[in-house]
This record gives sequence, structure tokens and C-alpha cells, in this order.
Amino acid sequence: MPNPKHIILQSFVFLCLLLQASSKSTIEPCSNSDSCNALLGYTLYTDLKVSEVASLFQIDPISLLTANAIDISYPDVEHHILPSKLFLKIPISCSCVDGIRKSVATHYKTRPSDTLSSIADAVYAGLVSSDQLREANSISDPSVLDVGQNLVVPLPCTCFNGSDNSLPAIYLSYVVRPVDTLAAIAARYFTTLTDLMNVNAMGSTAINDGDILAVPIPACASNFPKSASDFGLLVPNGSYAITAGHCVQCSCGPKNLDLYCMPASLAVSCSSMQCRGSNLMLGNVTVQQTSGGCNVTSCNYDGIVNGSIVTTYVYPLSAYLLHFLIYIF
Ligand SMILES: *[C@@H]1O[C@H](CO)[C@@H](O)[C@H](O)[C@H]1NC(C)=O
Ligand SMILES: *[C@@H]1O[C@H](CO)[C@@H](O)[C@H](O)[C@H]1NC(C)=O
Ligand SMILES: *[C@@H]1O[C@H](CO)[C@@H](O)[C@H](O)[C@H]1NC(C)=O
Ligand SMILES: *[C@@H]1O[C@H](CO)[C@@H](O)[C@H](O)[C@H]1NC(C)=O
Ligand SMILES: *[C@@H]1O[C@H](CO)[C@@H](O)[C@H](O)[C@H]1NC(C)=O
Repeated sequence: MPNPKHIILQSFVFLCLLLQASSKSTIEPCSNSDSCNALLGYTLYTDLKVSEVASLFQIDPISLLTANAIDISYPDVEHHILPSKLFLKIPISCSCVDGIRKSVATHYKTRPSDTLSSIADAVYAGLVSSDQLREANSISDPSVLDVGQNLVVPLPCTCFNGSDNSLPAIYLSYVVRPVDTLAAIAARYFTTLTDLMNVNAMGSTAINDGDILAVPIPACASNFPKSASDFGLLVPNGSYAITAGHCVQCSCGPKNLDLYCMPASLAVSCSSMQCRGSNLMLGNVTVQQTSGGCNVTSCNYDGIVNGSIVTTYVYPLSAYLLHFLIYIF
């Protein structure tokens, strides 16, 4: 059944096709000023340090590492060199600009011998086109680029309400390469052809080099109170996130999509992460077999409120209450 969201989307995609005959990209119209977390699929054009990739997108190196499930406890991990051609997921904030979803937080300082197409195709690996760079920066003569010019780099992203088929999801902007097929992309990201076609409002499975697809990545949702400064934390499957002032790490997958939080291994000073009234630490789960069934006790993370780590001690009393209620009704 056609979804109204996708009909609007399709006409936008069509509009884009008219404006830019070569490659397609999925565009999400938006009306409010909220933003969401999104990912960019980025292939390194040369060997770069973790910190250099982070500064290319003006993001926190820690968030780059955790989004790619790289262990942050290695000493000096920010200076670690990532090899050319490596594929990375870049976490960005996706906002609403002039009625469409995009990220405009990234800037690039031009260097000698840069051209708009080398910046677009090599440095940002096809995530932006030279025409988009030219328009966003009102460049009338692209053959004259001053060294040290500060260019805004508009980057593609989608939010789609943080869900896919009513389940929590984060969207990856994926640049199609000549070797790709839609089926292989679907398999690589544990989704289906139908889902990818629906999300991108495609009428056929045909894709071309340079197209930009929105790929839904299932995510683990948090259930922190609204007063928490990390309210709404959403962690994509197969990665983790650092929160609570680098004190807590929350991971997602691979077995289930339940967010799992525990103390982070970074050397920062943190407030107590022990659950009140117990000897359990954040992330501890104990399972005991009893006559009444399983006795599961856990100490869970519940967000950072007023600068303090909130923990919730979940003990079998609640399980007893539940049983009690079931017996009554
Ligand atoms: C957005 O997602 C929330 C839950 O994630 C859901 O309750 C709501 O209906 C969704 N809204 C739309 C417009 O899809
Ligand atoms: C999450 O990722 C793992 C691999 O890391 C995969 O086996 C699993 O199917 C994924 N879960 C979902 C719901 O996509
Ligand atoms: C409880 O969590 C702490 C911190 O992660 C860990 O060092 C400890 O081994 C855990 N204990 C149990 C019983 O799981
Ligand atoms: C469940 O475990 C807790 C903590 O280990 C213990 O205090 C409690 O007595 C146990 N309950 C039952 C019914 O075994
Ligand atoms: C957080 O601090 C504000 C004012 O400092 C206070 O009104 C509020 O009750 C506090 N919230 C919690 C959950 O402690």
C-alpha cells in the first residue's frame, strides 16, 4: 500500500532526477527544527589518523570509534592510522534545512591543488557533489578556489522518525559503488530488498554508481526519563555509544536489540555506578535458579539527570508482583 510519506518522497526524488540527471539520492522532506542521529557510509580516500577523519567531519573521535565498534581502550587510539579504502560509519546529526533533511555542520578548509570535484569525489567520497558544493557556497567560478577557503559541505541524511516498520532504526547514507547490487546491500545490512525499495521509494531494483541510498540500521532504543540529558539515546546494531560524560558505555547487538549499558573503560572520574541498596554495579546481571523460576537481579543505567548517573535496581520483588497480578486476574 502506498504510504503518503513515500509519495511525497518520490516526487522529491523525481525533482532531483530532473535537476541532476546523473545520480539519485533519497530526500526526506521535513518541517520542524528537530534533529536526529544518522550515519554516513564513508570510504577513506587515503591513510588517515582517527583524529583526522574526525576533524574532516568535525565530530568527536570517540563517537567515530564507537560507531565502528573499535575498542577505545587502546592507548593513543586517536592517533591510530586507518588504511585507505577502509569503509567507516560516520555518526552525524541530521537536521532540517530549507524543508529537507540534511547535515550542514561540516566545513572544509581548502588546500593547494584542491578542486571542487576532488573535494566532492575523493575527500568526501561522493557524499556530496561538486554542484552541491558550488551552490552551498555561492561559488560563481569553480576554477578559482582560494587556499584556506572555508567551505560548507552539505551532507545527505534521513531520520524517517527514527523507525523502520515501526521498530527503532538509524539511517545510513550509502553511496553506491559500481560493484554493488541492491540485494547485496540489503544482505550486508540485514534488511530485505522490499524494505530498501520502500524506504527509498524505488520502482525497480536498478541502482547506479554514485546514487545515495538511505539504509535502515536496526537500533536499540533507550527508555530514559525525559529529564535525562541523554534522553532518546539510540544505538545502531553492532556498535556502542559513550554517554554520561564518557563514564558509561551502551552497546547494541549482536544477539538482541536490548540496550546494554556498563561502566566505560575510559580514564575519567565518574560518580558512583553502584545500584543503591545492593552490591551490584551498573551492567551487572545475576541469574539464580529458584523453585519459583529464575531469579534475575540487575543494575541498569537510566540516563544522566542533573549531571548524575541514574541507576535502577531491578530485583525479583517486581517479578513476584507480576506473578501475584497474574494469579488474581
Ligand atoms: C514515530 O515513531 C513513534 C515511536 O517511535 C511513533 O509512536 C509515531 O507514531 C511515529 N510517527 C510517525 C509519523 O510515523
Ligand atoms: C545485528 O547485527 C548482527 C551482526 O553483527 C546480525 O547477526 C543481526 O542479525 C543483526 N540484527 C538485526 C535485527 O539486524
Ligand atoms: C559487575 O560489574 C563490574 C563493572 O563492570 C565488573 O567489574 C564485575 O565483574 C561485575 N560483577 C558481576 C558479578 O557481574
Ligand atoms: C533472589 O536473589 C536475591 C539476591 O541474590 C535474594 O536476596 C533473594 O532471596 C532471591 N529470591 C529467591 C526467591 O530466591
Ligand atoms: C534537577 O535540578 C533542578 C534544579 O536544579 C530540580 O528542580 C530538579 O528537581 C532536579 N531533578 C532531579 C531529577 O533531581
